[in-house]
Amino acid sequence: MSDTRIKQIRGRRVWDSRGRPTVEAEVELRNGLKARAIAPAGASTGTGEALDLRDGGPRFGGMDVSQACAAVNGLISDHLAGQDIGDQAQLDQRLVALDGTGNRSRLGSNAMVATSMALLQAAAAAAEQPLWRHLAGARQVRLPLPEIQIFGGGAHAARRVDVQDFMIMCPAARSFSEALEWTAEVYRAAGALLKKSGSLQGVADEGGYWPVFGSNEQALDTLMQAILDAGLRAGEQVGISLDIAASEFGRKGRYELALEGRTLDSDGMIDMLGGWLANYPILSIEDPLAEDDPEGFRCFTAAHGARCQVIGDDFLVTNAARVLAAAEQRSANAVLIKPNQAGTLTEALAALQAGKKSGFGTIVSARSGETEDVTIAHLSVGWDAGQLKVGSFSRSERMAKWNEVLRIEESLGAEARFWGWDALPIQRTANS
Ligand code: PGA
Ligand code: ZN
Repeated sequence: MSDTRIKQIRGRRVWDSRGRPTVEAEVELRNGLKARAIAPAGASTGTGEALDLRDGGPRFGGMDVSQACAAVNGLISDHLAGQDIGDQAQLDQRLVALDGTGNRSRLGSNAMVATSMALLQAAAAAAEQPLWRHLAGARQVRLPLPEIQIFGGGAHAARRVDVQDFMIMCPAARSFSEALEWTAEVYRAAGALLKKSGSLQGVADEGGYWPVFGSNEQALDTLMQAILDAGLRAGEQVGISLDIAASEFGRKGRYELALEGRTLDSDGMIDMLGGWLANYPILSIEDPLAEDDPEGFRCFTAAHGARCQVIGDDFLVTNAARVLAAAEQRSANAVLIKPNQAGTLTEALAALQAGKKSGFGTIVSARSGETEDVTIAHLSVGWDAGQLKVGSFSRSERMAKWNEVLRIEESLGAEARFWGWDALPIQRTANS
């Protein structure tokens, strides 16, 4: 029997999709096996998120991660050396205890999540299984419904438009691969429309087209036209999904919509979004209100939660206790799962399980700063999350994830099942 105890863990600085430093952790087992993973990084972060440890100072805009890498090489490696790789929950618990802070500021969430994911990669490799299968065991799992960005805005496009993500979902597709095929056509059609109107100006941080629009509604209209041009039926086959990321422009019940020069209160936001819901086939809205506006979330969910998925991202920050509280208060009906918001995979899984227990939609999500690491593609399948959000349909740090799910789908052959409509915690109406 080969020795699957941890020999050492190495931390190194690599670079993310925005050209910023990030942490890679590489776990080496005593049997010689090595596995690694890279921490992602957000730009529109919730205040309740675990903290990325950055050096500060003049180097790389203060974003360097030498302390976080040192934490992996030193404290973390010393503390986990000699432990068997088999029990992820116990290893993650050791990381949490070693950090000892509420917000992960000692080791850094970047050091912790890179280590946690590398540990899981090593455990799967030691078990000689694909990571998703290692997680799922004998359970049957379904391939996730992808949520794919077409236009990128908000903090990912210098706030060119207020809304952060204009996305589509293809719940009527018969398979994950068909959902990608439909998306490819919509993405292409959207690019052609922008080119025709002279407003094609490259892509934003997550690969969606740079949003040269005069209003948020104009972006929605263009998206509708792109779906039509792709030969698909909006509402019936393809739905719209928005990440408002309202914490970026809303505080204390005041929402400053820069593009339209308007300031709205919480009710005004709910009315505006209600108008969009009435006029467009929107299936999902993330962070419709700011993280400090739970009452707004509650009112929005009461008004629209039956027909629209209401996702908490900055609002719930991948935190199981917050998810349970939101279920109790009916202030959302879905939760975004970003492992680095929590710090470890075990905590992220707890948030996902709290969501499932509450009947919530659960969406495994990448960050706006990503890399070639595809661990989250496996998490979405192995945890049977239902949905996956990794940005747009361009830039290889995004495509790497979609392509990895395609490989998993192919490996399942005739047994492959797709979540489709079942992933969404909503009642379907006559035209959807
Ligand atoms: P972030 O954006 O990774 O910049 O936080 C993603 C999101 O808000 O969903
Ligand atoms: Zn978000």
